[in-house]
Formats: sequence, C-alpha cells, structure tokens
Amino acid sequence: MTELGPVAWPPVPIRTERLVLRESEARDRAAFIELFASPEVGTYLGGPRPSDELERTAPEVPGRRPGFFVIDLDGAMIGMVTLDRRGAERPGHIRPDAGEAELGYMFLPEVWGCGYAGEACAAALDWFADVLPGEPVVLCTQTANDRSMRLAAKLGFTEVERFEEFGAEQWFGVWSSLPPSG
Ligand SMILES: CC(C)(COP(=O)(O)OP(=O)(O)OC[C@H]1O[C@@H](n2cnc3c(N)ncnc32)[C@H](O)[C@@H]1OP(=O)(O)O)[C@@H](O)C(=O)NCCC(=O)NCCS
Repeated sequence: MTELGPVAWPPVPIRTERLVLRESEARDRAAFIELFASPEVGTYLGGPRPSDELERTAPEVPGRRPGFFVIDLDGAMIGMVTLDRRGAERPGHIRPDAGEAELGYMFLPEVWGCGYAGEACAAALDWFADVLPGEPVVLCTQTANDRSMRLAAKLGFTEVERFEEFGAEQWFGVWSSLPPSG
C-alpha cells in the first residue's frame, strides 16, 4: 500500500454523533500497540504481532500519513480507519493502472458490536467523496471475517470478485459516491 496522494491533510477533525476522526498523536501509541498485538484483531489479518517487538519498533507517532484516521471516543483512541492506494502487485483491481483507494479498519475488541466502525467508516467515506469526488473506493476482506463482511455490506460496498490470497478466500468489493448509472 502507498499513501493516498495529494489531499489536504490533516483535515479539521471530523465529528460524528459519538466519535472524532483525527490524525494520530503521540498519546495514541499504546492503543496502536494494543490493536496490532490483539489476537482477536489479528484473527483474519495474519495474526497478532508480539507487543515487545511493537514497543521497540513503533514510531513515536504511529500512522501519521494522509488518509490515516485515528478514531477517538471520549478522548481515547478506539480504532483506526485508513484510505491508502492498493498496490499493483496485489490481486483485485478495478482499473488497469491499479492504485485504487482502499478502505481498511481495525477496532479494539472491547468496542466491537456498538456500531462505531460503521459510524467512523461512513464519515471517512464522506470525507473521501469530498476531497476526491466521484473516485471509487475498494475493500478487501476475508470471507470468513463475518463482522467485516457485514460492515462492508452496511457501508454499501458491492462484490467485484473473490479470490485466494494468504491461503484464504478474499472478498473484493467497490463503493462509489456516485449513483449507479443506467
Ligand atoms: C471489522 C470490525 C471493524 C467490525 O466491528 P463491529 O463493531 O462489528 O462493526 P460495526 O461498527 O458495524 O458494528 C456493528 C454491530 O454493532 C451493533 N450496534 C450496536 N449499537 C449500534 C449503533 N448505535 N449503530 C449501529 N450498530 C450498532 C450492530 O447491531 C452490530 O451488531 P452485531 O455484530 O451483533 O451484528 C471489527 O470486528 C474489527 O476491528 N476486526 C478486526 C480488524 C479486521 O478484521 N479488519 C478487517 C480488515 S479488511
């Protein structure tokens, strides 16, 4: 994955009913480590990373790049939502030159089942539709990842194809801010 590209960044923090989407800060580092070290979070993402390794290697302010939103609930990071460019080497593309904008999301298990991921992703997609109007967004998730599959459908992603990657079946979908043609 590469950075999203030339968009004004960071945006003014985006407020939803319950959350704030903002750029990352040094105080989020512990929550980042918790996310990447969590066995539940890592189940469909290649497994958790050892927290001592993360403590050693994580930058002072992890995730500072255009398109990387920290999701803040009452002043604390509960997850992240990302919009990056999908690498040409990966399977799954909707344009010949690849580099599609791709949505990603990871939330701490203690906040699953509250609708926070849906609320945050919808706001990030709204932001994206504003800064790059009409550009579609893709998403790839393991079909076995029920929560992620439900979220993708709720956000309005539709299936493009399925394929095998990392030894598992992947669902590849697309979302557009434009109304369907025809
Ligand atoms: C994928 C992931 C973000 C989904 O989180 P989630 O909390 O299930 O997603 P949502 O925000 O859509 O919440 C939906 C749930 O909240 C419930 N909910 C409770 N209050 C709600 C509200 N006010 N609004 C909406 N939904 C609400 C819904 O009923 C639904 O419950 P269910 O899971 O029992 O069906 C989370 O499981 C995760 O971080 N997984 C690990 C990372 C990962 O696999 N990422 C995928 C990478 S492609």
